[in-house]
Amino acid sequence: MERVLPFRFAEGEGVFWLLDQRRLPLEEVWVPVRTAREMASAIRGMVVRGAPAIGVSAAYGMVLAHLAGEAPEEADRLLRASRPTAVNLFHALDRMKAHWGDLEGSLKEARALWREVEETEKAISLHGARVLRGQVLTHCNTGPLATGGYGTALGAIVEAHRRGRVRHVWVDETRPYLQGARLTAYELKKAGVPATLIADSMAGFLMGKGQVDAVIVGVDRMALNGDFANKIGTYALAVLARHHGIPFYAALPLASVDPSLPTGEGIPLEERPPEEVLELRGVRLAPPGFPAYHPAFDLTPHRYLTGIVTEKGVLYPPFDEGLRDALGLA
Ligand code: MRU
Repeated sequence: MERVLPFRFAEGEGVFWLLDQRRLPLEEVWVPVRTAREMASAIRGMVVRGAPAIGVSAAYGMVLAHLAGEAPEEADRLLRASRPTAVNLFHALDRMKAHWGDLEGSLKEARALWREVEETEKAISLHGARVLRGQVLTHCNTGPLATGGYGTALGAIVEAHRRGRVRHVWVDETRPYLQGARLTAYELKKAGVPATLIADSMAGFLMGKGQVDAVIVGVDRMALNGDFANKIGTYALAVLARHHGIPFYAALPLASVDPSLPTGEGIPLEERPPEEVLELRGVRLAPPGFPAYHPAFDLTPHRYLTGIVTEKGVLYPPFDEGLRDALGLA
């Protein structure tokens, strides 16, 4: 599969280059990031997004802090405050903490983290491909652009297509930020997978007509019982899939599980600026002064999940047992 990665590190220049995901798919513009402060604002501003990609970027943000002479405490604080929901950000920064003040060590850790993303996603793609068939529906963007590796849910879809199991993908446009229309469509086109874009509101109609055989989505943070936060609209899809008797899967690296949370209740769900609902690429949609609400993530209770695709295999209920086991917890 032709992969477009969301970043590259130019070690000699001390620059972490980000492919500006706000400009895709129409323009491929690379943005130089030289400090942890710049990295935090790039993450908040969605230049780079997607849970695993945010984690890798934050890790390199700490490398940049060393190179730029920023205090690690402040760099860590800024990066932690950039986005609240994807737990990969916090896992990455926890790992980097052991190397504060040690440039070589922090560079090694950031590289290891990126390599792990690639390895785990190869495994996720292979396991996920086995449970998908026919026509698959997905939401948001979970491909290499969202991770820096092979992708989670989208990695599984591409692999299932390669094996002749999946013949067509329905791509939710994913209002309001349009990660599906802009990024998943771009990645599936490059991968040569037959796919069609739909507005989010069309999913139920297609399910009712028997044109969806499975739904698979990514995860920003999962609790130990399998409840999970993902892009706004995921919960509605889960309920629709259950109503129509369609298998519904979440695909994630175990690094997206928050072992401190027994249920999804404690997952912080980001709220983003209302302008992202009120405007499309700077063009106003609603009457001037009209208010909008923009929760960027929702919570899907584990009971809607058919299975959880991880690098260690596909877990089936009871998920708390399977997840604890996979994480090596008692
Ligand atoms: O707001 P975003 O674009 O960062 O949200 C991304 C998602 O919700 C993805 O589904 C999730 O991060 C999983 S990426 C493999």
